[in-house]
Amino acid sequence: MVFEKTLEQVVDENHVYARALHYLGIDFFRNPNKKLKDICEERGLDRKTVIKSFYTFDSNQRLSFPELENYPIELLVEFLKHAHHVFIKEKLPYIVHLTQQWDKKWSLKELLPEFVEDFIKHIYEEEDSTFKYIELLCEQNNGVQKAPFALISEFRGYSLRREFEEHQHEDEFGAIRDLMSNIEPINLIDRVLLNEIRAFDREMIYHAEIENNIFFPKAIVLEAEVHNQIRTLSRFN
Ligand SMILES: [Fe+2]
Ligand SMILES: [Fe+2]
Repeated sequence: MVFEKTLEQVVDENHVYARALHYLGIDFFRNPNKKLKDICEERGLDRKTVIKSFYTFDSNQRLSFPELENYPIELLVEFLKHAHHVFIKEKLPYIVHLTQQWDKKWSLKELLPEFVEDFIKHIYEEEDSTFKYIELLCEQNNGVQKAPFALISEFRGYSLRREFEEHQHEDEFGAIRDLMSNIEPINLIDRVLLNEIRAFDREMIYHAEIENNIFFPKAIVLEAEVHNQIRTLSRFN
């Protein structure tokens, strides 16, 4: 029974449980030898809540690529924005929190803030330019916008194809990935941190794949359609 185990044993069994516990206000490395049942009692935590949290963090609620391919582009933008939110508000803060538990954790402490800065910049640029451009194209395509003024004036110098080209070569996590590949974990905390970093890297790779293989190709088709419409409209005016 999981509640009879110590926090160290629980996390050793599944590293994802460390994150589930963190969101319940428990850092396993502060009380590694305490039993889960005692911690629950101390904190007034209901066992059902703990199991539910383990289940939620452990279950893989991913959408398949074919499912995403069938999404209309408006929905795909919302899906990608939500993923950005989860990266910035949940996954990254937890990794930063784990990294801060050590004084000399390799050179992760120096590399991580640099990565966070680049990553946040990438996300904001994506949302403020590419996604915004697509939202305007959709409005135009759906007849919400009567005249393409916003598209023409706000996105004069913007090129979707150039963004797509650049996006395929971006890899902000490379330096951290290289560093991690040379690390030999010596204890459970190391293993949990490495595991989280690798999981985060995988999530970012999937995210970029969805953008490169599903989102951008759809966006390019939509752009061509709207350009055709605008051309036809201007011919009649
Ligand atoms: Fe993104
Ligand atoms: Fe991206």
